[in-house]
Amino acid sequence: MRLLRQITSLNVLALCLALNSTALFNAAIDSLRHLPHKYHALTPIYTSENIDEGIWIPEYDLHTQNYKTNHVYKPIPEASAGISLLEQAVEAGSSDAAAALGDIYTFGNFLVPTNYTKALLYYHKAIATKANGHAYFMLGYMYSTGMFGEIPQNKQKAAVYYEFAAKNDDLNAILVLANNFYHGIGRAADCGVSKFYYATAARKTMSVLSQLAPETINEFLTYNIALPDYNGGIYGRRVSESPSSTTNKVSNFLALRESIRDLNFESQDSNLIDYYFNAYENYHGGHFKDRNYTEAYVNSIMCVVQGDEKFGGAYFELATDIDKYFLSKCHGLLSKLYLNGHGVQRNLTRAYAWLRSAQKIYNEPETLLTFAQFHNLDPSYTGGFTDKGLRYLRDAASNNSARAAFILSKSGIAPKHPLQTTYTKSNYDLVKFAAKKDILEALFYFADAVESGFGASVGDKYECEHVVGFYKEFVERSEKIVLPHIKYAFEEFRYGNFKNSLLGFLIAAEQGLINSQISAAYLLQQLEPLFPFKKKIQHGSRIRSAIAYLELASAQDHLDATVLLGDFYSTGFNSANISADFTQAFAYYSKAALSASSHGCYKLGYMYEYGLGSPNNTKDYFMAKRYYDLSRKYTKDRDLSQLSQIKASTFPVTLALLRLRFKMLFNGSSNERELDSTGWFSTFEKLRKSKEVEKHENTAQAKSEAHLEGGNYDGDDEYETFDYIVLIFTIAFFVYMALENVRGHFRRMDRRREAPGNQNVNAEANNRFGVQFFFAI
Ligand SMILES: *[C@@H]1O[C@H](CO)[C@@H](O)[C@H](O)[C@H]1NC(C)=O
Ligand SMILES: *[C@@H]1O[C@H](CO)[C@@H](O)[C@H](O)[C@H]1NC(C)=O
Ligand SMILES: *[C@@H]1O[C@H](CO)[C@@H](O)[C@H](O)[C@H]1NC(C)=O
Ligand SMILES: *[C@@H]1O[C@H](CO)[C@@H](O)[C@H](O)[C@H]1NC(C)=O
Ligand SMILES: *[C@@H]1O[C@H](CO)[C@@H](O)[C@H](O)[C@H]1NC(C)=O
Ligand SMILES: *[C@@H]1O[C@H](CO)[C@@H](O)[C@H](O)[C@H]1NC(C)=O
Ligand SMILES: *[C@@H]1O[C@H](CO)[C@@H](O)[C@H](O)[C@H]1NC(C)=O
Ligand SMILES: *[C@@H]1O[C@H](CO)[C@@H](O)[C@H](O)[C@H]1NC(C)=O
Repeated sequence: MRLLRQITSLNVLALCLALNSTALFNAAIDSLRHLPHKYHALTPIYTSENIDEGIWIPEYDLHTQNYKTNHVYKPIPEASAGISLLEQAVEAGSSDAAAALGDIYTFGNFLVPTNYTKALLYYHKAIATKANGHAYFMLGYMYSTGMFGEIPQNKQKAAVYYEFAAKNDDLNAILVLANNFYHGIGRAADCGVSKFYYATAARKTMSVLSQLAPETINEFLTYNIALPDYNGGIYGRRVSESPSSTTNKVSNFLALRESIRDLNFESQDSNLIDYYFNAYENYHGGHFKDRNYTEAYVNSIMCVVQGDEKFGGAYFELATDIDKYFLSKCHGLLSKLYLNGHGVQRNLTRAYAWLRSAQKIYNEPETLLTFAQFHNLDPSYTGGFTDKGLRYLRDAASNNSARAAFILSKSGIAPKHPLQTTYTKSNYDLVKFAAKKDILEALFYFADAVESGFGASVGDKYECEHVVGFYKEFVERSEKIVLPHIKYAFEEFRYGNFKNSLLGFLIAAEQGLINSQISAAYLLQQLEPLFPFKKKIQHGSRIRSAIAYLELASAQDHLDATVLLGDFYSTGFNSANISADFTQAFAYYSKAALSASSHGCYKLGYMYEYGLGSPNNTKDYFMAKRYYDLSRKYTKDRDLSQLSQIKASTFPVTLALLRLRFKMLFNGSSNERELDSTGWFSTFEKLRKSKEVEKHENTAQAKSEAHLEGGNYDGDDEYETFDYIVLIFTIAFFVYMALENVRGHFRRMDRRREAPGNQNVNAEANNRFGVQFFFAI
C-alpha cells in the first residue's frame, strides 16, 4: 500500500514536471508568436527598382565566418523574454523547446546571431529524451554539409540521422533520401526506392493541400530561383543557355503590358489596361512586391468606373475586343475579391453580380467555372454538385478549362478522401489533360494513376524515372507547403544576410532542387566567369563544395553548370588543390554538346582545335570545325525559338571558324579529311551565298513572328558584323599574300641578276602563274 502510494506520488511529480516544461514551452511560443516579422520596418537591399541592375555577393571572410557586408542586424529586443522561457523549458526537459532553440541559432530567427555549435548542442538535447523528426533532420543536415566548415563533417552520421528523421515522418528528410537514392549520392542509385520516398512525400503534401482553398493553390508564388539569373544567368544574358528561373506566370503576364497597350492602339482608352495590370500585380504580388488586396480592390474599382464612363450604355460598341476583355477581367477580379473577402468585406450577392456582368462583357470558360463554384455555396449544397453547377462545370471543361476538368475528374477519382483513389478511363483522361495544363493537384493524381498501374492498363507506358519526375515536380511546385526554407533563403538574400540565405538554399540543394543547387554554388564560390577582373579571394573548401553542387545540377542537365564545370577543370584551382584536368573538362563539354548546347560545342571545338583532352590529345581540325559549325547552328536555333530581344552573339564562333580555315589552309591539302578542298575563295563565296539565303529566311520568319508577338525585331547587325569580319580577314589575307609576292619578286630579281638571261622568261612565267594561282584559290 505504501509502495503504491509512493509510485503514485512519483507519477504525479513526473506529470507535474512534464506539464511544467510543456507549460513553459507553450508560454515561450505564445510570447514569440506575436512578435513582428524579423525584417519588419527594415529596408531590403534588393528591390524591384534595383534588381534589374543585377546582384553582387561580397567576399566571404574565413576569419569572421561571414560575408564582408555592412548589413549587421541586431536581435529583436522583445524576443529575449521568449528565448529565456525556452531555455527554462529546455532545463525542465522539453524536447520541443530544445529543437526550437536549435532553429533560432541555426536560422537566426528574431535576428539572433547564428551559432551552429550551440544549435548542434540543442538539437542533440532535443533527441536525448524522445524522438524528434525535425531535430534528427537538422542533425543529418549539419553533419552532411559541415555547415561550411564550422562543425566537423561526417557523412556516415548524417546518413543515420536522415534515416531516423524519415522514420519519424520528417518531410524534409524524406525528400533528401528520395534525391540521394535517385542520383546515387552516398549509396547505389535505386529508382524504385527513390520512387517510394517521392510517393510518400507527395501523399503527405497532398493531404495538406486538400485542406486549402482550391483557388489559392494555383496562385502559389514560387521562390525557387537560381540567383545568377538576376545577372542574366551564369554566363550573362547572351551566352547562358539554361532557361531563366526569375520569370513565372505572373511576371510573364506583366511583361505583356507594353505590347498589349501597343496592340490596342484603336482604343479610346487604354487606362483600363493599366488599371487591370496594376490590380493583377497587387492581387498576385511578386518577388519584390507584396500582395496588397486593398490596392487590388481599388485598382479594379477604378477600372470598372472608367469602363462605365467610356463604354457604358450606347457607347459599348466603341470598345475594342481588347478593352472588352480587360474590362471583363476587372469585373471578374472584383467578383473574386468579394467572394473571398479579400480587401473588402465578403459579400456573395455582390460577388455574383460582378461575375454576371463580367460574363456579359466577355464570355470566358473560367467564368463558367466560377459560376459552377457559386452553386456549391448554395445552402442546400450537400457535397455533390447541383445539376446546374454540374452543367456549368461540364461547359467549362468542354471549353478547355483545365481547372474544371480537374474538378470533374476529382469527384470521380477521390470522392471521399483525397488519398483513396479509383480510376476510370474517362477521369484518367481528364486528369491527364489537367496535369498537362499545369494544374498542381492534377499532377499528383496523374502520377498516382501511373504508379498504380492504371496508366499502363490504358496503354500509357511510363518508366520509373518518369513517375519520379512527376512526383518530384508536384512536390517542388508545392514549395509553399513543403519547402518554406526556399522563401526563407530568398528573403535573407533580399536583406543582404547571405550566410543565412546560403543555409536555406543548401537545404533545398540537398533535396535536389536544381535552382537551389545553382544558388548555393553561387553563394559558396562567387562564380563570375564574366567578370574575371572582379576577382575575389577563393577558399579551397568552399570551391570544392560549390563544385559538388554544380555537379548535382549538371546531373540534372543544367547546361550552364555543365559548361562551367568544364571551365573549372580546364583551368584548375590552385587554392582548392584542383589541377587542370583536360580529360575531365573535355567530358563536361561533350556532355553539354550532346544536349545541344551551343556554348558546349564551341568549347569542345576549341579542345579539338588545340588537342586538349581530345582522344590521345591530338589536334583534330575536322572535328573542331564540326563542333564550331554545330555551335553556330544551335545559337541560331535558339534565337529563332526564343524570339528574345537579345540575340546571342556568333562572333566568337565565326572568328574560330575563320582561324580554323586558315590553319587548315596552311596545313595544306595533305589533310585529306578536309571537306572544303575546293579552295578558299569558292568557300567564301559559298558561305556568303548560304548566309544570304538563311538571312532572308531568318529575317522573314523572325519578323513575322515578332510582329505576331507585338515585339520589335532587330537582328541585322549580326550578319553585318560577320561580313565585316570576313572582309577584314580577306583583306588581311590578300595583303599578306601581296607582301609574300613582293618579297618573292625581290628574291627572284636578286636571283635573276645572277642567272643567265635565257631563264628569265621561265621565271617570269612562273611568277605570273603564282599570282594567278593565289587569286584563283
Ligand atoms: C516548474 O517547476 C519548478 C520546480 O520543479 C518550480 O520551481 C517552478 O516554479 C515551476 N514553474 C512553473 C511555471 O510552473
Ligand atoms: C557559440 O556557442 C558556443 C557554445 O555555447 C560558445 O562556446 C561559443 O563561444 C559561441 N560562439 C560565438 C561566436 O558566440
Ligand atoms: C495596401 O495599400 C493600402 C492603400 O494604398 C495601404 O494603406 C496599405 O498599407 C497597404 N498594405 C500593405 C500590407 O502594404
Ligand atoms: C451585400 O450586398 C448587397 C447588395 O449591395 C447588400 O444589400 C447586402 O446588405 C450586403 N450584405 C452584407 C452582408 O454586407
Ligand atoms: C462552352 O461549350 C458549350 C458546349 O459544350 C457551348 O454551348 C458554350 O457556349 C461554350 N461557352 C463558352 C464560354 O465558350
Ligand atoms: C592535393 O592533392 C594531391 C593529390 O590529389 C594530394 O596528394 C595532396 O596531399 C593534396 N594537397 C593538399 C594540400 O590537400
Ligand atoms: C590512341 O593511341 C593509341 C596508341 O598510339 C592507339 O592505339 C589508339 O587507337 C589511339 N586512339 C585514338 C582514339 O586515336
Ligand atoms: C596537318 O596535316 C598533317 C598531315 O595530314 C597531319 O598529320 C597533322 O596532324 C595536321 N596538323 C594539324 C594541326 O592538324
